[in-house]
Amino acid sequence: MTRTVIRGGLVVTAAEEMHADVLIEGERVVALAAYGTSVAEGWTADREIDARGLYVVPGGVDAHTHMELPFGGTSASDTFETGTRAAAWGGTTTIVDFAVQSVGATLRAGLDAWHAKADGNCAIDYGFHMILADVNEHSLKEMDLLVAEGVSSFKLFMAYPGVFYSDDGQILRAMQRGADNGGLVMMHAENGLAIDVLVEQALAAGHTDPRYHGEVRRELLEAEAVHRAIKLSQVAGSPLYVVHVSAASAVAELAAARDQGLNVFGETCPQYLYLSTDNLAEPGFEGAKYVCSTPLRPKEHQAALWKGLRTNDLQVVSTDHCPFCFVGQKELGRGDFSKIPNGLPGVENRMDLLHQAVVDGHISRRRWIEIACATPARMFGLYPRKGTIAPGADADIVLYDPTATQTLSAQTHHMNVDYSAYEGRQLTGRVRTVLSRGTVVVDDNRWFGRAGHGRFQPRATCQYLI
Ligand code: URP
Ligand code: ZN
Ligand code: ZN
Repeated sequence: MTRTVIRGGLVVTAAEEMHADVLIEGERVVALAAYGTSVAEGWTADREIDARGLYVVPGGVDAHTHMELPFGGTSASDTFETGTRAAAWGGTTTIVDFAVQSVGATLRAGLDAWHAKADGNCAIDYGFHMILADVNEHSLKEMDLLVAEGVSSFKLFMAYPGVFYSDDGQILRAMQRGADNGGLVMMHAENGLAIDVLVEQALAAGHTDPRYHGEVRRELLEAEAVHRAIKLSQVAGSPLYVVHVSAASAVAELAAARDQGLNVFGETCPQYLYLSTDNLAEPGFEGAKYVCSTPLRPKEHQAALWKGLRTNDLQVVSTDHCPFCFVGQKELGRGDFSKIPNGLPGVENRMDLLHQAVVDGHISRRRWIEIACATPARMFGLYPRKGTIAPGADADIVLYDPTATQTLSAQTHHMNVDYSAYEGRQLTGRVRTVLSRGTVVVDDNRWFGRAGHGRFQPRATCQYLI
């Protein structure tokens, strides 16, 4: 079994920071010892990695990605191969992607299809959530089987009537089932029926540009849906995880529920922290690059999101990585914003953008690791195998240079998409080396990974309940 020692770095986990050496045997961390002590110096290894001047952090856990998702008349442009490779380049070593139930089909058929897409193609480890698009007697029963095989979270949509939408009765039934079997309900909280009315009215008025996407998907309709989802989860006695929260008033709904001691959780994404309706309003058709749902909000909302991350009213930052090329894909919505495929690329950028938040003073270093690694692992039953550096954990480790600078660009990123949502943005901090289960996959700007190294990770139920 290969022994590796990472020497002299500042190990940062959600819980602590320490100058320590890390001993890895095979795929696992076996010990940490204070740097410079006789214990650490006594370790012999096949490979020594010098981490002086670097942070040694757990590999990122991105709990919200959509590789190869068929959506909006096209498919997300990253495959499991390209998307997981890009994730690794950016310091993320685990993704949890969304398998999709088609209307009229079983959860089993959807999950099998997603296994077939991912199996043998991923560069890093991966798990699945299941999208429930057709809540009925059979799919409710199937939820129990999926939880037992490690697919322990289920996304429901209050948006997208006719596609993924579930009505309140269906949502309540799925939540009741989750309360029984431990499955965590993840909610896309926007009032889709009301939004569709506003879309129709906007188009009838000749408002076809991308910026109208942000206008019709009103903040109030996100807050209303979050409120309703919370009440339904209270009735069901189930926990609730609200995905891609973008509006200040939605954060307020979550905060009020949490103040009551409820098991209600919220996720936001880098695009809501760094981008805004100003991007949606970029001239020409450029705004299409920023069309996602929930939509980008006016800049003023960002302070509430940062505050929510500091106060733990928001617990997780995921990417909702769902890339569509500008040419040929986003362009499907020229002349009709409602036909622009919804989604942004970002799986490669999340760890860096959140490190920039440390540099900018929004969050602490340990909070960076908590919201990007430890809590997503706990929330989705992967901890402590993932999300921390501790004896017994998988050796998913990133050596991070906090002083290196970089400029984000489509010219240099590894995601299979022809634009960057953060083109030209300058960041301080950069990944130097990435280990996935003890194997170096990225080092000094070189790729050593391979498709098929990544393994499916069966997950336990939520480990974050109050
Ligand atoms: O615009 C988005 N978020 N696209 C991906 C699908 C979803 O709702 O998460
Ligand atoms: Zn969604
Ligand atoms: Zn999503």
